[in-house]
Amino acid sequence: MDFELAAEQREIQAVAREFAAAEIEPHAAEWDRAHGFPRALLGQLGALGLLGVCVPEEHGGAGADFLSYILVLEELSRADAGVGVTVAVHTSACTLPLLAFGTEAQRARFVPPLARGDAIGCFALTEPGSGSDAGALVTSAEPVDGGWHVRGSKQWITNASLGGTVLLFARTDPSTRSARGVSAFVVDTAQVEITRTEEKLGLNSSATNDIAIDAVVEGDRMLGELHHGFRIAMATLDGGRIGIAAQAVGIAQAAYDVARAYALERETFGHRIADYQAIQHKLANMAMEIDAARLLTLRAAWLKDQGRPHTEAGAKAKLFASEMARRQTAEAIQVLGGYGYTKEFPVERYYRDAKVTEIYEGTSEIQRLVIARSILGRNELVATPS
Ligand code: CAA
Repeated sequence: MDFELAAEQREIQAVAREFAAAEIEPHAAEWDRAHGFPRALLGQLGALGLLGVCVPEEHGGAGADFLSYILVLEELSRADAGVGVTVAVHTSACTLPLLAFGTEAQRARFVPPLARGDAIGCFALTEPGSGSDAGALVTSAEPVDGGWHVRGSKQWITNASLGGTVLLFARTDPSTRSARGVSAFVVDTAQVEITRTEEKLGLNSSATNDIAIDAVVEGDRMLGELHHGFRIAMATLDGGRIGIAAQAVGIAQAAYDVARAYALERETFGHRIADYQAIQHKLANMAMEIDAARLLTLRAAWLKDQGRPHTEAGAKAKLFASEMARRQTAEAIQVLGGYGYTKEFPVERYYRDAKVTEIYEGTSEIQRLVIARSILGRNELVATPS
């Protein structure tokens, strides 16, 4: 067992950390208020290779491993979790499944523009009536001359308004109602209509849109096998959830950094508040839980890099890291007291940003279901969705 990062992993981490500290963190409060970051940021991230960290060089990426990408997500999210989720969805929910499941022609066509950041990636699974029960989706794809007529609505699609490529799931077998009979399609954002921009509690710098599609998608844009797209969605989320765990770790780390610095400076009753055991215990718990969440996250990323099963490990990492981030960002507010509740300090933003990590890419309840199915064996469970 070796807990040291490799030299290349440390280098990529340092590139992301320095860029985030100089170009993202100083603007994060402003982007939170403005509900968006400047488009030019994506150009800067692309130029540094941070929009294709773990994409092989022959496909236009930086050629690093998945763990390096996870380190990058932590650093970006520590500065601005909205930027973190933009890169996370772009990479692990769109680019990586195209690499993993695409034909050689599909990879050559769709991956390089994504890896360079010329196109931004989205993942369109969720619908108004199907979130946790993703297999209940009703967007349809009917065979027509030259391809598929895809019709339906998708909800809460990160990055849709940024323009690029959508990995979209639609029902190709109308006789089914469950996860069976669903196929995956690679769609351009020009083929979809943005029907709504969501107002959210946090992650305000990221774009969250509802979309509608009523378009003919060429036959060569089907990803993977007909009617077997749900497996692609699930395998994609297995990796994506590790990214959300890293995002949660980054948010919690940022909150801890502020709380620690504040505790060492703020005085009450003639002493720094860091001198009080009540505050020391809070900071000790934060440091310990962040460490534990990071280790779960890095282990899951390592398993993925080894090509080993990581469904359970990724679900555990996401579940623990997201609940930890919600808990510990609240504790950071408590350390700062009244100041923590104001926009003079960033911890209230961290608290708002952390909450969604317990919801998207599978709620905490779904992560527990995934873990329970893995440790008990699905067939042992009676009350399980079919
Ligand atoms: N890898 C590969 N295949 C898998 C898999 C995995 N981890 N898990 C399941 N599958 C396959 C099954 O083998 C099965 O395949 P066959 O039909 O060929 O046998 C198929 O997928 C259906 O599996 P289940 O029967 O287990 O499906 P289910 O209906 O019971 O649902 C679920 C399983 C885990 C509850 C799933 O619906 C789920 O993960 N729900 C949560 C959805 C979610 O996470 N949404 C996130 C949206 S994206 C997002 O949030 C992005 C963002 O903006 C940040």
